[in-house]
Amino acid sequence: MGIRTRGPEGTGADMADDNEPNQQRERFPHTPVMLERIVELFTPTLEGPGKVVVDATLGMGGHSEGLLERFPELTVIGLDRDTDALAIAGERLARFGDRVRLVHTVYDGIAEAIAGEGFDEVDGVLFDLGVSSLQLDRAERGFAYSQDAPLDMRMDRTEGQTAADVLATYDEGELRRIFQRYGEEKLAGRYARAIVERRATKPFEMSGDLVQVLHDATPVAVQRQGHPAKRVFQALRIEVNAELSVLERAIPAALDAIAVGGRIVVESYQSLEDRMVKRELAARTTSSAPAGLPVELPEHRPTFQLVVKGAELADDAERAANPRAIPVRLRAAERIRK
Ligand SMILES: C[S@@+](CC[C@H](N)C(=O)[O-])C[C@H]1O[C@@H](n2cnc3c(N)ncnc32)[C@H](O)[C@@H]1O
Repeated sequence: MGIRTRGPEGTGADMADDNEPNQQRERFPHTPVMLERIVELFTPTLEGPGKVVVDATLGMGGHSEGLLERFPELTVIGLDRDTDALAIAGERLARFGDRVRLVHTVYDGIAEAIAGEGFDEVDGVLFDLGVSSLQLDRAERGFAYSQDAPLDMRMDRTEGQTAADVLATYDEGELRRIFQRYGEEKLAGRYARAIVERRATKPFEMSGDLVQVLHDATPVAVQRQGHPAKRVFQALRIEVNAELSVLERAIPAALDAIAVGGRIVVESYQSLEDRMVKRELAARTTSSAPAGLPVELPEHRPTFQLVVKGAELADDAERAANPRAIPVRLRAAERIRK
């Protein structure tokens, strides 16, 4: 059946599989967030022959599977920087044959990935940002503060610095800044100091060590307000994977790749990402005419229009059934001219 993969060997993308959808759901239990709404938002643009969508955050392929089932002529280009995710999604989506193309890349390489698959533009792009349940569930990846594991946190384990490297090499001021900026952590200075003091005697290797140091540095009254490691772990993950700078390049690149009538849908799970998405969409959906110009010239007209006003949330039923849907903010826009 041969799904093409431009990723590394052994992603599992070329494994044959004839599972029926029900069996698939048992094997891949994590529910894609707001899937029905995403299908609905893409319906005007993905129905019919020759349509192509990029799933820029393939993960375990749940959203891609839903789109491939709903739009029987659709081709999906699935991107992920995590080779474990590509292997699992490759197996899950094998039954769709060459309607699925998998690419091992950071998503700011979206334009190259589309060109590499032989397309000039696409009819849709989906981003379901952040870390996957797979990454959180696999203790050895070091993303979860609740499980003791080596401090890795790289989404792509084939390259780059780990969380342990960051904790060993950043000075106190840099640590404080990333905890403040990426974790919005009020105790950033206190935690940075505690980390620097502790590493002078013993380097950090395991997440349990870090959790203990953060716990000991947290005033008792604050310990009752949630897990002290939550925001520091988020900040380290964002730093290790350069998540915000990559997203800042990826959203404009994705918008540039969309054909007239095509749509972008983005699901964010924390405010730093959502603000960035909101800003990029605002830039494309408002007129670029200089203030005071009496008539708007055609070249100043916006290139996109919002399909969803503001940010949409998951409904109460989904939030009750799937905790991952609680923080989601969904934004969507459609290209109206080149
Ligand atoms: C929330 S999960 C996606 C889940 C997916 N929608 C599903 O239904 O299974 C996010 C995925 O995006 C990937 N990812 C995050 N940042 C990325 C980046 N900058 N480039 C490529 N992939 C990225 C992660 O490795 C993870 O597998």
